[in-house]
Parts: sequence; C-alpha cells; structure tokens
Amino acid sequence: MKEKIEILKGDITKQQVDAVVNAANTSLLGGGGVDGAIHRAAGPELLEETRKIGGCPTGEARVSKGYRLPAKWVIHTVGPIWRGGNSNEEELLASCYRNCFKAARELGVKTIAFPSISTGAYRFPLERATEIALEETKSFLETDRALSKVLFVCFGDEVFQTYKRIFEQVFEE
Ligand code: APR
Repeated sequence: MKEKIEILKGDITKQQVDAVVNAANTSLLGGGGVDGAIHRAAGPELLEETRKIGGCPTGEARVSKGYRLPAKWVIHTVGPIWRGGNSNEEELLASCYRNCFKAARELGVKTIAFPSISTGAYRFPLERATEIALEETKSFLETDRALSKVLFVCFGDEVFQTYKRIFEQVFEE
C-alpha cells in the first residue's frame, strides 16, 4: 500500500493527476497560496463555477472541474485556521482529508494530489498536520482499491523533508 504514495517537491498545478486538492477558504472565491495558484492555472471559469457552489464549511470538501489545469477535477477543502489547538483543529484537518478521499471515491478518480493543507496562511503546525495527513491516508488506503496514486506535493524543502520523515514513521511495517 505504501507504494501508492509519492512525496515530491513541486507545484501542484503542474501535476498530471485526475484530481488536485485545493487548500481553499470558506468562500471558495480564491485567495493566495495554493488557492491562488490553482485559480490562476485553471483560469476564470474556475471562479465562475466555485461562485455558484456558494462556499464550503471548514473540514468539508466541494468538487469543481479543473478547466485549464492538467487535472480533470479540483477538490476544494477548507482547512482549520490554527488557534492554539483547543478549537478542534486536529479533528477538522483530519476531516478535510477524509472528505477529500470521499469525494475522490465518488468521482471514481485513480490519482490524486494533495498540498500541505492548513500549514501556510492558516498556521497549523507542520509536523502535526503531516502526521494527520499521512495517518488519514493510510486509513483510507486500507479500505480502498480504486486509488492507484496519492501524491503529496511539497512547495518547499522543509515540507518535503517533514513528509519524508513522517512517512517512514506512519508506514513502517
Ligand atoms: N503547489 C503546492 N503547494 C503550494 C503551492 C503550489 N503551487 N503554493 C503554495 N503551496 C503550499 C504552501 O507553501 C503551504 O505549504 O501549500 C501549503 C498550504 O499553504 P496555503 O496555500 O497558505 O494554504 P492554507 O495554510 O491552507 O491557508 C488557506 O490561504 O490562500 C489562502 O484562500 C486561501 O484563505 C485560504 C488560506
């Protein structure tokens, strides 16, 4: 199962996968970071569609087409803003991953790429966020046969090294 996971440094908008996950905000109207990059790469039709979706609560996911992205779908999820750890942030981040996998299953996608949700502007501690991401992925892959590839696209060396290190801990057989 661990062979289905790939950790790489790069730009999620360039990934040749069926679905990319966007670290959005509750308005779904775009923003900075990976949200801004995905909207820029997908083009204006993405905003036209997400405007019609009408927002997304923290911890949930909504699907749109990918338009000019290589990916056919964008799964928009809204991570928690880190407020010190006593506002259910961990459970909300875990539910982001669970809801993205649920959406991927409903779409019937085989390959999906995640950014490091909530660890940028939302300030979620990177180490703990990475543990949550990989633990939720492991749980899902234990029950799923459809996905053939889960990519974690890291936008810098710190995130990349953290994913590599925690991957060994979470997936040590
Ligand atoms: N590809 C992959 N990862 C990226 C890219 C990219 N092109 N651009 C940024 N990242 C990384 C960041 O370096 C960080 O590691 O995505 C991770 C998440 O950071 P943010 O994009 O800031 O997302 P988040 O912390 O979830 O904050 C979401 O920021 O952009 C706004 O509209 C968004 O309000 C929302 C908030």
